[in-house]
Amino acid sequence: GEWAYTEKLKEHFMSPKNIMQGENTDEFDGVGMEGNLQCGDQMMVVIKVDRDTEVITDCQWKTYGCASAIASTSILSEMVKGKTLDQAFHISPKEVAQELGGLPDNKIHCSVLGDKALRAAINNYYVRNGMDDKVKQEQAKTICQCMSITDHDIEEAVLEGARTY
Ligand code: FES
Repeated sequence: GEWAYTEKLKEHFMSPKNIMQGENTDEFDGVGMEGNLQCGDQMMVVIKVDRDTEVITDCQWKTYGCASAIASTSILSEMVKGKTLDQAFHISPKEVAQELGGLPDNKIHCSVLGDKALRAAINNYYVRNGMDDKVKQEQAKTICQCMSITDHDIEEAVLEGARTY
């Protein structure tokens, strides 16, 4: 069959950016963990934040996920640097897939993994800093509690489609 992965995806898979070294999360201002029950993979995203401007100054991550998860989160970690927490929170899996030049349909859930972990890290920052009012819930009902999959995820990742290849 046809090779469905773009050069950009291969580049980020072969040389992923901002991989977290070690286990120490203390130096970071927000920590987010996500599991993907569709495939059983896990993701951790950590961020450093400038408190005055709420701009993300560093974003690192590690995963047991596949090549697509690695490439997606690598490019996501580059995209969020210099963005405010609010801007970063609203980056969608679709935008990540577009940055990669497209993702095969059956790999979209892999890009959702890093995206959700990032949003968890942002919410973690708010909670740690006593800004619980800023914690953004996913504006969606959970369709399947056991998988933490919401209609929002499905809509974003599938219905809108990230097929740009
Ligand atoms: Fe699990 Fe891609 S198959 S993250």
